[in-house]
Amino acid sequence: MADAMWLKADSIRAALGETVWYLEGDEDARTIRVRREIVEFLRQPLTGNADEATVLLRVLQTVPGVTSPQGYRIHDISNGRKAIDACDGTGLLYGFYAYVRAVMTGTVCECVAEPDQQIRMIDHWDQIDGSIERGYAGESIFFGRMDSNDHSDFRAFPERDTTNPFRGDFARLESYARLMASIGINAVCLNNVNVRGDATRLIVEPFLSKVTHIADLFDSFGIRTFLAINFASPKRLGGLSTSDPCNQQVRAWWAQTADAIYRQIPAFGGFVVKADSEGEPGPMQYGRTHADGANMLGEALAPHGGIVIWRAFVYNSQQDWRDRSTDRAKAAWNNFKELDGLFADNVALQVKFGPMDFQTREPLNPLIGGMKHTNIIMEFEITAEYLGHQIDVNYVLPQWLTMIDTDTMIDGASTDNDDASSQVKSIIAHRGPNTCHTGFAAVSNVGMDDNWTGNALAQANLYGFGRMCWDNTLNAETIANEWLAQTFPDASEKTIGIIRNILLTSNAVYEGYTAPLGVGFMVTPGVHYGPSVNGYEYDRWGTYHFADRDGVGVDRTQATGSGYVAQYPPRQAAIYEDVNSTPDELLLFFHHVGYEHRLHSGKTVLQHIYDTHFAGPEAVQGYIKSWENVRGQVPEAVFDNVAQRLAQQLDNAVAWRDQVNTFFYRMTKVPDEHGRTIYP
Ligand code: GCU
Repeated sequence: MADAMWLKADSIRAALGETVWYLEGDEDARTIRVRREIVEFLRQPLTGNADEATVLLRVLQTVPGVTSPQGYRIHDISNGRKAIDACDGTGLLYGFYAYVRAVMTGTVCECVAEPDQQIRMIDHWDQIDGSIERGYAGESIFFGRMDSNDHSDFRAFPERDTTNPFRGDFARLESYARLMASIGINAVCLNNVNVRGDATRLIVEPFLSKVTHIADLFDSFGIRTFLAINFASPKRLGGLSTSDPCNQQVRAWWAQTADAIYRQIPAFGGFVVKADSEGEPGPMQYGRTHADGANMLGEALAPHGGIVIWRAFVYNSQQDWRDRSTDRAKAAWNNFKELDGLFADNVALQVKFGPMDFQTREPLNPLIGGMKHTNIIMEFEITAEYLGHQIDVNYVLPQWLTMIDTDTMIDGASTDNDDASSQVKSIIAHRGPNTCHTGFAAVSNVGMDDNWTGNALAQANLYGFGRMCWDNTLNAETIANEWLAQTFPDASEKTIGIIRNILLTSNAVYEGYTAPLGVGFMVTPGVHYGPSVNGYEYDRWGTYHFADRDGVGVDRTQATGSGYVAQYPPRQAAIYEDVNSTPDELLLFFHHVGYEHRLHSGKTVLQHIYDTHFAGPEAVQGYIKSWENVRGQVPEAVFDNVAQRLAQQLDNAVAWRDQVNTFFYRMTKVPDEHGRTIYP
């Protein structure tokens, strides 16, 4: 059985000691799940007599301080006995895992907790052949052949044949659901947003019955199952001549399809849709808007309480680099801003955190804050597509937290970042026609690899995403500490300190040796790992650095550039419009500057590029050395896995250093101030 990441039953049992549990509540799916977690997962005693128990789990009519069915209260009752109270089985489940976490991290105290974001979602980009788009940890946990992995100890579908794409490894799926529930994830989309071939059929029989098995399991863990759909399904599955969202037959087909889904899966979450983007079909091919398309699906799901998650990652992916007037960064806004207020209450627009595509450094997507009357789900990518493929260590929480803490500067709100009302996290949670349908989503990084995430340290990003969604006030170090304490319960303080240091510095190190100062996209096209300075420069997907002998960067100002800056509220736009007030880390995203331009740090742009690229491999060499010190202190498989990944990371960092430095040296013929080797 695969390693259980941060939930290790033996360690939890040892930390809990002589705990005797008592459980009181309606026999709903979640309360039953809590019972099973105690008895089957933890294998701990459960008593029917409250007086005998050391920990009481209770669903009560009212719980002081708890207003949401997801909330819970942990408090002392008498003689060191604890109570975990909630108003609903879901809150009880979260309270149970919170208590386990507190025991494992040594932080048990009285508390009341409720989630900061309502939708806390993981999107799988899993395909029904078992592969994963942008997956770096083996095959899909949902799809693929049972014999294509070593972990299956339970055959859910003994009748499996070649037309059944489901893996059916329910032991694995149960572990996964448990892990997700333990960090507060309450929604999972099973399949890739690019819905092609037979994946289109997931919403109908015979595949739907298989989805039902998974959805039932997930529901018991408080997780709603979503499916990504193909907008052209009425044509492809229904035999209609059109998929026009304004056509009555098309609407009826979606309504019937939704009815059939909900007959099987009453707790079904809804649809995730990528439309009119990167070759996917959508309403625009019928002259309709994204709102027409989304609302049509919303109408079909509304009677059942389902929602439509409509992605805003829409841009012209057939650009011509010769055309300097196009700017990919402007696309989401140009496609969606004018539709603000037109989306139905049960539609949420899922917006990537930045205007481009999950780069290490991007400014905030201006739609977040700009769409004032639309439910927004902010999208992140846990799978490390542009961030090192889970080969390079990259603990990404510092980056994500910077994004959710960003002040949108909307509506003349105060410049004080303490004014939570204009911060991204607050805007998302509190704006939109139905705030139950807002939150955060992220693309999964798990697969069938023994350690789930390819690089064992990449588990921390999955853990961190869930914790960040639940509690928007946690910082990157606290989250890392929680993950470390639970994942390496037997490690010494020294070992924990070494791993913590690697994690907390890794995102800045990766940013340093890849694309500098917000320029992005200097990656090998297609695979997105390793350097290729000009890889996307003359490509149909966009143009990114415009480096010539005098300077580098993209002029997105209103005065002389693409005008993208104008999408921000005036106060923010003024900062980005001016080269002097633009933060260094985003300089080349907003401006084309000379190589001799001085950053706020005092360095020239060129010297900064040289310095960070020399620093990258040095830092990775440091990681390799310090990792040697944890040999024997962490499980051997983890040690070997990370050691092997760090060796690959070093090669990668060296490749980035040499290609990027040589590129800019050839452009400028200006040597490194410190005389280090740059290949001519
Ligand atoms: C990126 C990624 C694609 C993905 C797309 C999306 O461009 O490379 O694989 O399909 O994002 O978010 O839809």
